[in-house]
Amino acid sequence: MKRKKVSIIGAGHVGASTAQLLALAGISDVVLFDVVEGMPQGKALDLSQACSIWNSAASVIGTNNYADTAGSDVIVVTAGIARKPGMSRDDLLRTNAGIVSAVGRGIAGGSPDAVIIAVTNPMDVMAHLLYKTTGFAHHRVMGMGGVLDAARFSTFVAWELNVSPGAVNSVILGGHGDQMVPMPRFTTVNGVPVTKLIPEDKIEALVERTRGGGAEIVSLLKTGSAYYAPAAATFQMVKAILFDEKRPLPAACYLTGQYGIEGLFVGVPAILGAGGVERIIELKLDDKEREAFVKSAGAVSGLVKTLDI
Ligand code: APR
Repeated sequence: MKRKKVSIIGAGHVGASTAQLLALAGISDVVLFDVVEGMPQGKALDLSQACSIWNSAASVIGTNNYADTAGSDVIVVTAGIARKPGMSRDDLLRTNAGIVSAVGRGIAGGSPDAVIIAVTNPMDVMAHLLYKTTGFAHHRVMGMGGVLDAARFSTFVAWELNVSPGAVNSVILGGHGDQMVPMPRFTTVNGVPVTKLIPEDKIEALVERTRGGGAEIVSLLKTGSAYYAPAAATFQMVKAILFDEKRPLPAACYLTGQYGIEGLFVGVPAILGAGGVERIIELKLDDKEREAFVKSAGAVSGLVKTLDI
């Protein structure tokens, strides 16, 4: 069987960390693309040598040429600038929109059957841009944000209850921004909703920490934004697609009427498989949850309108 091919556009912190996870797992060949000359080639060489220690048969190459990404099964887009302290994800909008539009045009022709995962922030808007600039069917484009936000909420819930984080299953809706909507009613520990395990005011504090989860790391790092958990989240999504896992994961998906929203990428639970977003799961929201979701989607829609896409 031919090995799968994953191209990663942007060989910076998130891109290179994702490449490392793929190479270590040996589940696909990896192409690392960047505009900086030599850097992706150097990281690819380093990773190739690590593969011999990991006993991984993955081929890892670095390039500044889009032709090398041709025939990809999955393309991860992390190209752009990362957040600096005091910057919101939305401050990145215009710079990253220019970069990501160029990426969309660069990758589309060579990999017509690929599934694209947008990671660059503001991620929901970048997913929309990639959808528009590649001309791909909407179910073949999605954004990474929900898996990361859910991981952050799960971590804080696990610390609060002193349980293994893997036992916590978090649900988060909405845009991958400050108005994301963690859903305590649907977040469970071994099937028990956290609303039955943690007092309301404490849950609210965990929700707030999750909303500021990215900024908390930015303010500690001072020179960039998170990348270990973003790479782990991206890896999980890539794997679900490559292996046609039909795995329910939160992702920014193009809505066509679900949750009363049309024509917008926004975070919802979805089934990910070889076809990309194979199904969107519609949860029954109460009034307060729906209001928060609509507000969060409105923030994404505002950014999309700013860019006029
Ligand atoms: N094409 C390809 N790569 C590009 C382009 C371009 N036009 N412009 C910039 N890049 C590359 C940079 O050279 C850099 O190597 O994108 C990479 C970004 O890497 P980092 O600066 O290390 O940023 P990172 O922490 O990986 O975050 C990338 O993901 O989580 C989001 O908010 C984050 O938008 C940011 C993105």
